[in-house]
Amino acid sequence: MRRPAPRTLQGQLTAGLVTLLALACLAVGSATALALRGFLIGRLDEQLAASGGRFAASLEHEADPDADNRSDTRGQAEDTFGARLLDDVVTQAAVVDDATDRPLVLTAGDRRALARIPVDEDGHSIHLSTSPGRYRMMAVRGDDQDILITGLPLHPVEETVHRLLVLEAALFGAALVTTGIAGALWVRVSLRPLRLVAAQATEVADLPLASGEVAMPGPLPHADPRTEVGRVGQAVNHMLGHVEDALVRRQAGEERLRHFAADASHELRTPVANIRGHAELALRHQGPVPSEIRHALERVDVESRRMTRLVDDLLLLARLDAGRPLEHEAVDLTLLILDATDDARAAGPRHHWFLDLPEEPVTVRGDAHRLQQAIGNLLANARNHTPPGTDVAITLTSDGTRACVDVSDNGPGIPEELQAEVFGRFVRGDHARSRNTGSTGLGLAIVQAVVTAHGGTVAVTSTPRHTTFRVSLPVRGVSHG
Ligand SMILES: Nc1ncnc2c1ncn2[C@@H]1O[C@H](COP(=O)(O)OP(=O)(O)OP(=O)(O)O)[C@@H](O)[C@H]1O
Ligand SMILES: [Mg+2]
Repeated sequence: MRRPAPRTLQGQLTAGLVTLLALACLAVGSATALALRGFLIGRLDEQLAASGGRFAASLEHEADPDADNRSDTRGQAEDTFGARLLDDVVTQAAVVDDATDRPLVLTAGDRRALARIPVDEDGHSIHLSTSPGRYRMMAVRGDDQDILITGLPLHPVEETVHRLLVLEAALFGAALVTTGIAGALWVRVSLRPLRLVAAQATEVADLPLASGEVAMPGPLPHADPRTEVGRVGQAVNHMLGHVEDALVRRQAGEERLRHFAADASHELRTPVANIRGHAELALRHQGPVPSEIRHALERVDVESRRMTRLVDDLLLLARLDAGRPLEHEAVDLTLLILDATDDARAAGPRHHWFLDLPEEPVTVRGDAHRLQQAIGNLLANARNHTPPGTDVAITLTSDGTRACVDVSDNGPGIPEELQAEVFGRFVRGDHARSRNTGSTGLGLAIVQAVVTAHGGTVAVTSTPRHTTFRVSLPVRGVSHG
């Protein structure tokens, strides 16, 4: 079943306008028709009163053989009805027809209706079975204790009222159609600012406000504050101004933070490299070195290596955040994965590594070094966060437009509460253990930043004994950076 389309405000206002006008027309039409009918019937009653039963009285002479056997139809209108009642029994009844009277054959019902007319010199509407049917009648008492009824046909009144109704229907119909069309246009024009507000709001709602530079739409035009719609438009403009302000400030803050991270990591590189160099030099010192000094130097060496990596990772993230262009070369993904798996095999000989590559080489465009680093991070995770003996499968597939790299392991999996934020910065699983193993929690953040910079996506699904990271990249020809 189809649901009815939602009524727009424009439709509702137009329908309301036309309905109100139709009700007003109906009221005016009914009132004028009733007033006209009342007026015309009053006129009939006056005529009846003026005739004073003359025609009806003249009918009695028809029965009188001495009379000239002519009823008094002079001055009587066509179809005038006359009847004479004696003791509530109709003795004569006729209508004026072509200036003479034509006796009427009345049914028993007609006779009863005539007998019931009160003798009050007031008009009463009576329906006779003979043509022309509906009459306005008045009964007066005659000279011979008889009742004289005179009637005038109601159909001229009804025809006049009917013509008025037809005329009114035509006029009101035309007025309704005109109002409907003009009203719809007028409402449409009046609501235009509201439509602009809606379009503006939708546009803003679709903007990615959370990060980066946001191009806000310009202010709404024609926001006349004297109208309600204008006030809405003004409020929206005001709100957009605030939002834009906040976004500019947010972006400036992000920019500062990025610069700070980039500058700080850049500045740290040299002293860290120096520390490492000095530690290495000291360790190479020939001659007796107390064991605790050697141990301390070894710690300095390990920690400075870790710090170098951390600083490099931070610098890379800051650069990717700033949208710094990557290399844009053809990268043979098959070869890259082959190398990365070799490295992983060497680093984790107690894990079981399985590699599944397609027959045809898969090539993407981008930065080979960064992609190698991203895949390396995924393999390092599969090694570092699973116990020895775990199976790790690396699968490369391509459908011609996208290349997919799946890194799956049957290790313990990622806790569910960690999964949603696992690509965040400094997000690590087991903190105590992580610190000891030198884990920083930047590995997956770098995977995501590198893959995104290549126009790709990365996603994770993880249950105990089944964790898969899937990297999807556009294949050669798609340009980024
Ligand atoms: N294959 C995996 N199996 C189980 N847990 C994983 C796996 N890969 C990642 N994790 C979890 O996700 C967390 C975040 O991973 P990420 O690579 O970002 O950081 P890290 O490996 O802890 O540190 P880093 O990679 O910087 O040395 C890890 O600490 C770990 O808890
Ligand atoms: Mg990692």
